[in-house]
Amino acid sequence: MVSKASEDGRSGPSRRSVLAGASAFAGFAVVAPKRAAASGSDRVEALLAQMTLEEKAGQLSCFADMIRPPIADMNPLVNLRNAQTLLAEIHAGRIGVLMNGVGTAGALEAQKAAVEGSRLKIPLLFAADIVHGFRTVFPIPLAESGSFDPRLAERTAHGAASEASASGLHWTFAPMVDVARDQRWGRVAEGAGEDVYLGEVMAAARVRGFQGKDLKAEDSMLATPKHFAAYGAVTAGLDYNSVEISEATLREVHLPPFQAAFAAGALTTMSAFNDINGVPATANKRLLTDILRGEWGFKGVVISDYTADQELVAHGYAHDDRDAARLAILAGVDISMQSGLYLRYLPELTAAGAVPMAVVDASVRRVLALKEAIGLFDNPYRSINAKVEAMRTATPTLRQLSREAGGRSIVLLRNEGAILPLPTAGKRLALIGPFAEDRDNVLGAWGGFFADRSLNVDLASGVRSALADPGALIVERGCEVETTLAGGFERAVAAAQAADIVLLAIGESQDMTGEAKSRTDIRIPAVQQRLAEAIAATGKPVVVLLRHGRAIALEGVVRDARAILATWFLGSEMGNAVADVLFGTVNPSARLPVSFPQESGQEPFFYNGRTTGRPAPLDPNSQEYKSRWRSIRNEALYPFGFGLGYASFALSDLKLSDARLGWNDTLRITAKLTNTGQTHGEHVVQLYIHDRVASRTRPVRELKGFQRVSLAPGASHDVRFELRRENLMFIGGDDRWLAEPGMFDVWVANSSIDGLVGQFELLAG
Ligand code: NOJ
Repeated sequence: MVSKASEDGRSGPSRRSVLAGASAFAGFAVVAPKRAAASGSDRVEALLAQMTLEEKAGQLSCFADMIRPPIADMNPLVNLRNAQTLLAEIHAGRIGVLMNGVGTAGALEAQKAAVEGSRLKIPLLFAADIVHGFRTVFPIPLAESGSFDPRLAERTAHGAASEASASGLHWTFAPMVDVARDQRWGRVAEGAGEDVYLGEVMAAARVRGFQGKDLKAEDSMLATPKHFAAYGAVTAGLDYNSVEISEATLREVHLPPFQAAFAAGALTTMSAFNDINGVPATANKRLLTDILRGEWGFKGVVISDYTADQELVAHGYAHDDRDAARLAILAGVDISMQSGLYLRYLPELTAAGAVPMAVVDASVRRVLALKEAIGLFDNPYRSINAKVEAMRTATPTLRQLSREAGGRSIVLLRNEGAILPLPTAGKRLALIGPFAEDRDNVLGAWGGFFADRSLNVDLASGVRSALADPGALIVERGCEVETTLAGGFERAVAAAQAADIVLLAIGESQDMTGEAKSRTDIRIPAVQQRLAEAIAATGKPVVVLLRHGRAIALEGVVRDARAILATWFLGSEMGNAVADVLFGTVNPSARLPVSFPQESGQEPFFYNGRTTGRPAPLDPNSQEYKSRWRSIRNEALYPFGFGLGYASFALSDLKLSDARLGWNDTLRITAKLTNTGQTHGEHVVQLYIHDRVASRTRPVRELKGFQRVSLAPGASHDVRFELRRENLMFIGGDDRWLAEPGMFDVWVANSSIDGLVGQFELLAG
């Protein structure tokens, strides 16, 4: 019997629906097409007519909120204005947005200064990086994407918005939708991984979750798909590095998740730090104006990344700060974040004619329209209510959601001899490793800033509370994350010897992933690998609980452990979520959103690379002069889309509705999924295609759909997918989307490297 069949069935947002959705957001000030660029609502126009140039520049300026300063340094401490200066500026109408301050008390003070103290009484927008939770933290976005469950992503984004909006916030700088194909890049952790289609689905889900159905609702937050664009393609995975990219790859791989996010209703985006083929994204008129507004019809607001406009000088693209402000606004950046350059230079640049007044007015209109869209003019104190703040913070419901999301994000990579799930009684367990009892590394990249850390559940607590006899667990740290611990190995080995099974909690610390945390080597730190060797030498069965914010190159005894769980950074409830999977309360069903390579040196490494003229032979010993490494196989150690569970599944009976797909027709693909295991389980069935011959070489495979199916033991379900011409399109020689008639392979699969394969022909129109 099928108890649940969800998502996503067919394909992502079609190119056509993306285009339509981008300009069709209800509630945003969109008027008759010809006049759209020139006028907003009556209220917006009336305000604009009264504004001085200084006040206009103020609306286009965002500063770190030092009235309620963040507890940790989330960004470089530059251009900071203290609380007194900020309040004076707000009174003078010289600030439009404050960022990364939280709490209703400070919000009230700042909003009062704007609404009661400034000449035009324009309310402030309060923004923050609410990326995967606020006080209650959910799994890092990468982990959650592995759930292949957009409904889950929507629910956690909504949970985060409900908690953060109660703390005086209107706007989140999330979701991050950068496609990341190089695991050296630390910010892989913040997005949906290496695949475009999964990226589109998750981007749209997160936007829906943050914003909800009604932007004026108090628990809704404006979403910001970021970083526009191609930030995930930084050379060598080095953060902030330059991007060299073809137009085809830009449009096929890096832009679609943004389009999906806009189609889902996102009204803002953030310009990236990187350059693209020599033009910094933050001064990139082609990107920010021609593509974003011209081609896609985006009517919303572009905010720069933190001081990204000022960094045009360091890029060697602007002569000085004044020039940087000019280039950024002319390119299409509406709001300058933290540099203060717009405030300082826009009035003079405009008065001098270096920036047309119409350009400034258009940006101001967009910012005022954004404020209007969330009801701020009518309800300036929305989201500022201390009672609501207390009620909606760290609730049991949010903690439960975090635990559920954690369990659904864990990927079972290996389970030799079905050692997992473990019994809750009758076995002595040794939990060993730097993350065994650690509460500082459960949250992940963005979790550390606003979280209520008292909620953090470490592994030892989670495991202990699942055991019939908590005394059956011995805990030993063994070593630190990157250094030894006096006597640590000896105590760890003794603990392993005294146990029946070892749980080895090893991997990356929180500060090895995220912004500015690029690594050259994506292995487990050497000291932990040595600890693993010492433990393995005891001969005790080892279950690896991997802590990580990217794919890891596993090696030696860790790679060969009896079982491996990819447990990422799961948020507040990490210890409980891991215990749920370890002991089988939750049957793991997540799949890898990034390929695990054999070695670090394979990066950038992703499943959907293009076919070469000399593909690697199946037999690694066959003739030379092929596209392969000297020492290792090309294939992933664990490929994109892979993951096991405690049940087993079989796919059979692949059927295509036709061997041909008419130009305007729909091809239906079905396959039978059977639970061949002994337990109820969920499986993620994946649809891939390959275009055999095209006017541009095509990826070896491309994900085009997936479905999660939940089945009782012995039960079967017919999984159905559909493909249309739109799903077969690519960027052709003239850098536009096109479909070409011809033969395609199609797989219904368990991962990106297996499956039942069929063929069909797309007929000419
Ligand atoms: C820099 C990061 O790149 C961006 O993602 C973030 O939103 C801003 N800092 C603001 O904190």
